[in-house]
Amino acid sequence: MTPEDATIALLEELKRQRVEGVREIFLQDDTLTALSNHLGPISTPVAKKIKAAIPYPSVPPLEKKETTSLPEPVHIQPVHTVPTKEKEISAFETHESKQKFPPPPELDLPAGSKLDQWKWLRGKVKACEVCNRELGPTGNIVFGGGSLDAELFFCGEAPGVDEEKEGEAFVGPAGDLLNRIIGAMGMSRESVYLANIMNWRPLHTQAFGNRPPSVDEMSFCLPYLRAQVEIVKPKVLVCLGKVATDALLGHDPKRRLSDCRGQWSEALGIPTMVTYHPSYLLHNPSKTSKRKVWDDLLLVMEKLGMPISAKQRGFFSS
Ligand code: URA
Ligand code: URA
Repeated sequence: MTPEDATIALLEELKRQRVEGVREIFLQDDTLTALSNHLGPISTPVAKKIKAAIPYPSVPPLEKKETTSLPEPVHIQPVHTVPTKEKEISAFETHESKQKFPPPPELDLPAGSKLDQWKWLRGKVKACEVCNRELGPTGNIVFGGGSLDAELFFCGEAPGVDEEKEGEAFVGPAGDLLNRIIGAMGMSRESVYLANIMNWRPLHTQAFGNRPPSVDEMSFCLPYLRAQVEIVKPKVLVCLGKVATDALLGHDPKRRLSDCRGQWSEALGIPTMVTYHPSYLLHNPSKTSKRKVWDDLLLVMEKLGMPISAKQRGFFSS
């Protein structure tokens, strides 16, 4: 492929995402450099103009008609509060770690109750040198939480800006939507377990968005996630979005989420459902996307032997 072809392909992909409602994307610095080499420098004033032309719709409001039948979001108290700590300003200001990652941690869960094991593991993560090294100046490590007896374990990608501030998974807009989804399933956030592949928010230098974690970052954090699954021993895992899917089902560059969602796979010996990430739904709030996620979660409810009402079956169908 010539650089021209690659640029055209990229522009086509950006147009496609634009049609799908994506208004902001994260570009690696390398990509920006390659693009500006090809197109001429992308100056800040131009970037500003582009931003002004497509104001970011903070979070599109959920359409009333479709959501009135859903329970109101409940105020969630984490089962295990992870205290936020004062963090000293780190000297780390580059966007992606240039430091080498050591081999992923080897974790041998100690004998004891689930709570003992969870506390032990949380202690390991909070003391983890690499996790602390990678945090932004005001960021906190984010460890999973919820019920340690949960039958259902949701796995997301990485903390966002709200999560790293609070030190808790899924407390921002994506978390609010996830709470509503869990409520619509007839469960509460406290009765499931929520975790991420990453324990820290991948640093970057752009004003908006979240950088997808690199393979090194994901490989390093994965044992911590696996250990949480081992402690909770859920009946079903749900991968939210591509990062969780790649991390838990193995990286496959050809995999399209649209092809593998709605089907059972197995990860860590546990039946695993892949579905879209709630952030994706916030950017693509069409009834079709919501229905797809809901269809996937109906399968999860069936697998868990949960009762499903006619009303629940009918959510998001016309
Ligand atoms: N997105 C995720 O994947 N995880 C969070 O905790 C928040 C947003
Ligand atoms: N593509 C992604 O990467 N994630 C989603 O959740 C949906 C589409």
